[in-house]
Amino acid sequence: MKKICMIGSGYVGLVTGACLADFGNQITCVDVAEDKIASLNRGQIPFYEPGLRELVERNKAKKRLAFTTDLPESIRKCEIVFIAVGTPMDKDGAVDLSAVFDVAHTVAENLNGYKIVVNKSTVPVGTGARVRQVIREHTGGKVEFDVVSNPEFLREGSAIGDFMHPDRVVIGTSSTRAMKIMSRIYRPLYLIETPIIRTTLETAELIKYASNAFLATKISFINEVAMLCEQVGADIQVLAKAVGLDGRIGSKFLHAGAGYGGSCFPKDTVGLLKVAEAAGAELKIVKAAVKANEEQRKRMVRKVIQAVGDLAGKTIGVLGLSFKPRTDDVREAPALYIIQDLQKRGAKIRAYDPVAMPNAGRVLDRVTFCDDAYAVCQGADALVFMTEWNEFRELDMTRIKELLIEPVIIDTRNIYDPEQMDNLGFRYVGVGRGKPCQA
Ligand SMILES: NC(=O)c1ccc[n+]([C@@H]2O[C@H](COP(=O)([O-])OP(=O)(O)OC[C@H]3O[C@@H](n4cnc5c(N)ncnc54)[C@H](O)[C@@H]3O)[C@@H](O)[C@H]2O)c1
Repeated sequence: MKKICMIGSGYVGLVTGACLADFGNQITCVDVAEDKIASLNRGQIPFYEPGLRELVERNKAKKRLAFTTDLPESIRKCEIVFIAVGTPMDKDGAVDLSAVFDVAHTVAENLNGYKIVVNKSTVPVGTGARVRQVIREHTGGKVEFDVVSNPEFLREGSAIGDFMHPDRVVIGTSSTRAMKIMSRIYRPLYLIETPIIRTTLETAELIKYASNAFLATKISFINEVAMLCEQVGADIQVLAKAVGLDGRIGSKFLHAGAGYGGSCFPKDTVGLLKVAEAAGAELKIVKAAVKANEEQRKRMVRKVIQAVGDLAGKTIGVLGLSFKPRTDDVREAPALYIIQDLQKRGAKIRAYDPVAMPNAGRVLDRVTFCDDAYAVCQGADALVFMTEWNEFRELDMTRIKELLIEPVIIDTRNIYDPEQMDNLGFRYVGVGRGKPCQA
């Protein structure tokens, strides 16, 4: 059992804290956001993540999990400090590391004995070394400590399962003492044969960026092939299935859609490009993936315009606001980008999402949020599917058709079958589903 202080109680910090508490450790989750800590202390989870409430409740009841805003005290009392604060993109596209270094300074000021400082936030290569330098300069080498990189690969929406059954755990440090302690923390995963990659700080930091950039590239690749499918009368769904069945390629992240979004891929691809640029290495493929993704979002807007015509005064219904199903996270969600673009062109928006409407409401103006998918269609000139929530897969399409002013569907997630939609009398537009040329 280790005493761990988890700094940053967002999607990553809270999930990691609750999971490590479930392994039997003593966890204090810390955050600067007082409202977040207050709601956690009241038993409320500040964001949507399936299964998290039960996990937090169970570990709170066992007195293995506590929440506070008192960072100095939490640092002094623990043996291991995890940094899981946000590392957003700044206005130039570089990674904003201010929260990481704020924490590093507070750690330095409260270092009252040997501690391991574990960076779980996604940070550019070299950040761990800089954190070490900040702490060393402040303490004048009088207190021992080690810095570790332990990047996180969980996905929102399946975060607990991903943490408890990861494809791998990456631990980066040159200290054998820290490596031994970190290996002990992850022993429950080692016992279920999770591969543990033990490496240097720098390699661990870069593994995270390379992984995300590769996945983003895979998405951009299939989106570009989808565009080609539309030109030549091929079907991306069949193509992606066949391509993905090749064991060397794999079927995951090979779904054509509205482009990638979320709190990670957009900022991590651009962040990696900045790191590479500073190091004098040009990453042409990642650069192309970023550009293709920007294009893909614009292409979705063009699909709506092509289907509806002039948008001035038209009402567009939008289903799904989060960047993917099973999360309320709307950071960099394609839906938000597309809604704002449609609004600029004069469209009125009616929208529904099972859980992301409160977050979307903080970003969007002049959107009519509705109680369900059917209410969205009431008086809309077209319906746009933006997130493939399960509850959108089995809608009563006859009722939808009656509610819409025009039977127009733009399905940016390829949820529905074009032929069935044609048969029901919809003008249906998917992604990469070209009509075969007539002989
Ligand atoms: N969200 C994901 O799916 C995911 C997956 C893997 C890695 N990551 C990475 O993990 C990190 C955290 O991401 P997230 O999605 O959990 O972010 P988040 O915004 O949900 O949470 C970050 C939390 O840190 C808190 N915070 C900021 N500054 C602080 C400080 N000085 N002291 C204490 N708390 C502070 C914020 O109030 C917030 O609650 C990022 O680097 C992200 O790239 C995220």
